[in-house]
Amino acid sequence: MSTPSVVDIPTLLEISPQGGVEGRSRRYEKYLGDMDGVYRDERAWQDAVGEHGADELVYWVDDHRYQEGPGALIVGTSTLLPGRYGEEFAVTRGHLHAVADRAELYYCLSGRGVMLLETLDGQASAVELSPGQAVNVPGHWIHRSVNVGDEPFVTLFCYAADAGQDYAVIADAGGMKNLVVADGDGWALKDNPDHAGYRRQ
Ligand SMILES: [Fe+2]
Repeated sequence: MSTPSVVDIPTLLEISPQGGVEGRSRRYEKYLGDMDGVYRDERAWQDAVGEHGADELVYWVDDHRYQEGPGALIVGTSTLLPGRYGEEFAVTRGHLHAVADRAELYYCLSGRGVMLLETLDGQASAVELSPGQAVNVPGHWIHRSVNVGDEPFVTLFCYAADAGQDYAVIADAGGMKNLVVADGDGWALKDNPDHAGYRRQ
């Protein structure tokens, strides 16, 4: 048995329902300017950049990782601010795990959102989340958070530290198969006509 290094020491993580992890080892932030090509309505995105600036914060992720490799977990929160780009609600970039069979748990802490889920072979699902609800995302499912409410959509997530993220899989397919669009006071799924199918089997 090797002696655990300092970073393996159990750490208290204070999780804020508004998003944020005291004790985190990392935070990354995404800005409006980073979302080029994500929304189907390019003009609506450009208008938003014109109005708010490319450096407007749109979502951020706090996480805690204590080691690399199989067996270790990454735990953190994702905070996605509300917004609309044309008819589409605000989304995260979305990804498939680079080690595709790695699963992930998302537990809603606050706000109201949808986890949009698709597989490379064309299966699709969308799970609405309110505080107290969680979705267990199996391996091999591309996943993206969507904020369908008026408040920040905050989730606690947990996944294997060796999972990694493949973000290009969505862009290479012309976007995800489904869009989450406004529908009255709620949301609906709409076919994305630009989606050309996922090519990585
Ligand atoms: Fe993930």
